[in-house]
Amino acid sequence: MKVNAALHRDFRIGTIDDRLYAAFIEHMGRAIYSGIYEPGHPEADHMGFRKDVMELVKGLNIPAIRYPGGNFVSAYDWKDGIGPKEDRPMRMDLAWRSRESNQVGINEFAHWAKETDIEMMLAVNLGSKGLQDARDFVEYVNMPGGTFWSDLRKSHGVEDPYDVKMWCLGNEMDGPWQIGHKEAKEYGRIADETAKALRQITPGAEFIVCGSSNDGMATYPEWERQVLDECYENVHYISLHKYFGNSSKDTLNFFGKIEETGRYIQAIGGVIDFIKAKKRAKNDVYICFDEWNVWYHIREEDHKRWHTWDWPEAPALLEEDYNFEDALFIGGLLNEFIRRSDRVRIACIAQLVNVIAPIRAEKGGPAWRQTIYWPYQFASLHGRGEALNVSVDGPTYNCEVASDVPYMDIAATWDRAAGTVTVFALNRHLTETAELSMSLTGFDSAEVIMHKVMEGHDLEATNGPDKPDAIAPTDGKGIGVDDGSLKGSLAPLSYHVVKLK
Ligand code: AHR
Repeated sequence: MKVNAALHRDFRIGTIDDRLYAAFIEHMGRAIYSGIYEPGHPEADHMGFRKDVMELVKGLNIPAIRYPGGNFVSAYDWKDGIGPKEDRPMRMDLAWRSRESNQVGINEFAHWAKETDIEMMLAVNLGSKGLQDARDFVEYVNMPGGTFWSDLRKSHGVEDPYDVKMWCLGNEMDGPWQIGHKEAKEYGRIADETAKALRQITPGAEFIVCGSSNDGMATYPEWERQVLDECYENVHYISLHKYFGNSSKDTLNFFGKIEETGRYIQAIGGVIDFIKAKKRAKNDVYICFDEWNVWYHIREEDHKRWHTWDWPEAPALLEEDYNFEDALFIGGLLNEFIRRSDRVRIACIAQLVNVIAPIRAEKGGPAWRQTIYWPYQFASLHGRGEALNVSVDGPTYNCEVASDVPYMDIAATWDRAAGTVTVFALNRHLTETAELSMSLTGFDSAEVIMHKVMEGHDLEATNGPDKPDAIAPTDGKGIGVDDGSLKGSLAPLSYHVVKLK
């Protein structure tokens, strides 16, 4: 198939917020315990955090991480996770029917975040707790000293405050499964009051209010309208969550969910604009897509297991093995985030280690990269700077979730300081090679300085502890600049990252 595209230096979407490549990690399954934290593991540091896992995390250049949940946070008492470890209580984690040892709490996690050079984005419990508890938590975390909670932190050996700027006001509060689930207006009021109170402690803080748990919820998008109506002027972001699957084994429909996500973002953008206009507000609210990933391979089995098991401690849960098809999908989804980066300022892959994650770690054993690690790494490393509009003229297809889906999915970014342009291209066609010709107005004299490709694998192929590099990018060839255009052949079902300078 022939694909003509155009990229123009003056057609910019906007500046990408680095936090578009943020992550999320929750106290659940083996994400924390025997994921990032495993005292006694040969790779553990003096605090018990695995250095091999840290190295894989560092490879992703993650700017920020959302913690400690997720559903977990809605019945979590952060006070259980501070002070001497031997005094910390074993608690029931009501979200995942597990035991929580509290051996990792805010101070241990902050150590890990510092070691991996990632900014913390913390969630407060607005399910089983509320404003007062959130206020105490922020005081413990951010107040320099001279007050009860800040002095308690100091007595725990942490002299300096963490100065955490990003605060999530609860999690998925629209979901009937959520501990302390609320109605939209009720939650919007609590979120508003909580943001106002927390801002007194940390004036520059940014607040993320909960949107719907996904765009399939019965209350979507009315939930967003009502919530923002209550708190618009005191929050900075509204959260979106979406998980993807291909249980019907319809690859093109699966890839069409990238377009569906674009519609979701656009719809919430419309709700934001409506409320802003209604309130004659001066401030802008952006989107924080703080949970996204593929999640379906073992979802049903997991669901049955954890609803009936007998409160195990750090059980294997949601340990999805990602395949090549998932990696292609994630490449395309990240392209959509780049294209929508005028609205989406923060996005968190959910999650980071073991639980629906790009990184896996065996207890007492090795850690490895899953297939989806690669497109996430490419976007995080190279998708910074300005997002550029790319017009794509080529064949399209219709599927259940979307119409007129271009087989060729392209996004581009321009790093002005480095003088580089990066093109991310996914050929979703099942059988046809794309003959691409993309004009490069304003970058006509550039040359290809890097071309990485993921192609030629069985869609079901995965990585694993015994085959950690089975699916990994290789150097691509056959793409170059000719007469001011980027030209080349892109194999069916292939994902490319091409850097120009
Ligand atoms: O990421 C797993 C779970 O998915 C989170 O705890 C919850 O917020 C979402 O439903």
